[in-house]
Amino acid sequence: MSIARIRLGEVRSIGVAQPRLEARDKVTGHAPYAVDHPVPGAVYAWPVLSTVAAGWVSTVDTQPALALDGVLAVVWHGSAPRLEPIGDPGLLVLQSPRIQYRGQVVAMVVANSLERAREGAEAVVVDEQPVTADTELRADHPALYAPETVNAGFPGMSVVGDLDAGLATAAVRVDATYRTPAMHHVAMEPHAATAFWERGNLVVFDSTQSSTSVRDALAGLFELPPQMVRVVNEHVGGGFGSKGPGRVTAVLAAMASRCVGRPVKLALTRQMLFSLAGYRTPTIQRVRLGADERGRLVAIGHDAVSQTSKVIEFVEQTAVISRTLYAAPHRRTTHRVAPLDVPPPTWMRAPGECPGSFALESAMDELAVAGNWDPVQLRLANDTQVDPELGIPFSSRHLADCLRDGAERFGWAGRDPRPAVRREGRWLVGTGVAASTFPAITWPSTATARATADDHFHVQVNAADIGTGARTVLRQIAADALGVAQYCVEITVGDSAIGPAPVAGGSMGTSSWGWAVTEACRRVRERIDSLHHGRVPAEGVFATADTTEDVAAREEFARHSFGAQFCEVRVDPGTGEVRVSRLLGVFAAGRIVNPTTARSQLIGGMTMGLSMALMERSVMDRRTGDFVTDDLASYHVAVNADVPAIEARWIDEDDPHLNPMGTKGIGELGIVGTAAAVANAVYHATGIRVHDLPITPASLLR
Ligand code: MOS
Repeated sequence: MSIARIRLGEVRSIGVAQPRLEARDKVTGHAPYAVDHPVPGAVYAWPVLSTVAAGWVSTVDTQPALALDGVLAVVWHGSAPRLEPIGDPGLLVLQSPRIQYRGQVVAMVVANSLERAREGAEAVVVDEQPVTADTELRADHPALYAPETVNAGFPGMSVVGDLDAGLATAAVRVDATYRTPAMHHVAMEPHAATAFWERGNLVVFDSTQSSTSVRDALAGLFELPPQMVRVVNEHVGGGFGSKGPGRVTAVLAAMASRCVGRPVKLALTRQMLFSLAGYRTPTIQRVRLGADERGRLVAIGHDAVSQTSKVIEFVEQTAVISRTLYAAPHRRTTHRVAPLDVPPPTWMRAPGECPGSFALESAMDELAVAGNWDPVQLRLANDTQVDPELGIPFSSRHLADCLRDGAERFGWAGRDPRPAVRREGRWLVGTGVAASTFPAITWPSTATARATADDHFHVQVNAADIGTGARTVLRQIAADALGVAQYCVEITVGDSAIGPAPVAGGSMGTSSWGWAVTEACRRVRERIDSLHHGRVPAEGVFATADTTEDVAAREEFARHSFGAQFCEVRVDPGTGEVRVSRLLGVFAAGRIVNPTTARSQLIGGMTMGLSMALMERSVMDRRTGDFVTDDLASYHVAVNADVPAIEARWIDEDDPHLNPMGTKGIGELGIVGTAAAVANAVYHATGIRVHDLPITPASLLR
């Protein structure tokens, strides 16, 4: 068959709804996760964790563990292979006696069965010398400082005009402080790795959002050229940011394998994840808004405080959303951070924008109440087509359309703005709205495409499919770029041997990997057409792509996705129980490649926002630095019964300034603003403004 014959006229795969390619493998248990790969001769590792928040390991008595039949090794800082320091000191595990947080790895037992490894870990005696630990974030913490840059490379501070002068001229003002607690990702698959050494090469099956960065980290730590390290992450059972950076699991498994000369499997328990897998920092945010008598913002101030650990400087970009969302002549955003004796926080579910939007979008609701403006109209009045701080145009911005479309579908018109007046039976009913935005990021990636003489195409890109549908949408993109039907295309992801590609994070996956896939496929198609007259020769046709220059050559634009979140809640005034009864999100996020997986991403994000608003809170015992809510019985997340009628819609957005597919990214947009929409609806239902998440019965029964 010639390739011309399988170009079935106007075959288009982008935009077609379809289920995930690996769906059957997943639900039948055939999809191998990090420790599922059958590796002959594998043994098991179990970490031993510190029980104090700060101090030193003075001695480790390994004898009781080594005396157990089947225990092969006890690895601790006195016996561990030396690691070469790299950028992330959090990966330098078992290199020093210093304890910097509770739940840090201080030893590891390797044994020929999982049970024996665990028993061995309990038998090891670690003598810890504690020092006084400082574990509590406060707005007046003496260690707070203002870093020059915060996460994702944003400047720590931004100033336009004169905030105080602007506030002084405002007709209506809001000055409020909001708090969000520490939160954990709790992905279904724990952080886990299988590692073995093969003729000096290191192979790791890792549960990671980026096998490229894990490969680079392991190469650095073990002083190997990167091509001697291979990291495979074919299936990843969720990440939400916690598997973005390399984690100690891969390092420990590689170390253990080197020590015992056998393949090693290591899976953290759910409890261990609460100290070893990162979490979202708690935040304390002061927002000041000032508007003129018509509801036009004249001043926006957002001051954010967060914590980091003493292991790494990690500064959540909490206030950056206030640089983007609304126009105003006078504005200032600041970040301060306190290094504490706590586990290192990390990226989590729209880091920055998610907690930041709770504060900003709650404050906008307070401003609407103070000025007697409709919350939708207030947001429309402060919309802008030019980035308010950078002064450059947005590549596309349809926030206003999202707000208008959402308001119409939600039935916003005629809403009685008075709080606590609508009742249905015993329930007080209220509605709330909030805006959403997230940067539309594209990073350089590589990809390859190969055509074979039987008109089969094999496209490879080192994407990580963390449950999003990445491989499914990448095959759709590949099919369109090749001009063939999808069934002719096989896609392979999740293997560092394919070539460098960015993290499945920052909502940039589809845009970044998809651009490289498009380029590689176009080249193959061009060669087939120009060199071979539309026929694939016996030897096949192969092409690679690297989009580094394409990405760098883009015109300067502010690139963001936008959305509007609408929420209806019911509150039982007797018990303080809050039930979300309706959620509607309307989004403008460029071209949507696959409506099925896109909807799943968006309602997943909205559900996590609901969960954040009403349930999620990691509680630390301040005396011990221990996250005591360390399982899914004590760390509450929304379950099916908590999720109401939920709808995600999108506006068709044709943006030529993004990438060849016209995609913006949808992984994180859904969670941004949702918690504020819930809190604003709770205010409307009850007249009680909750500034501290989560909103529990205790927040409402005063
Ligand atoms: Mo997402 S928190 O960028 O993995």
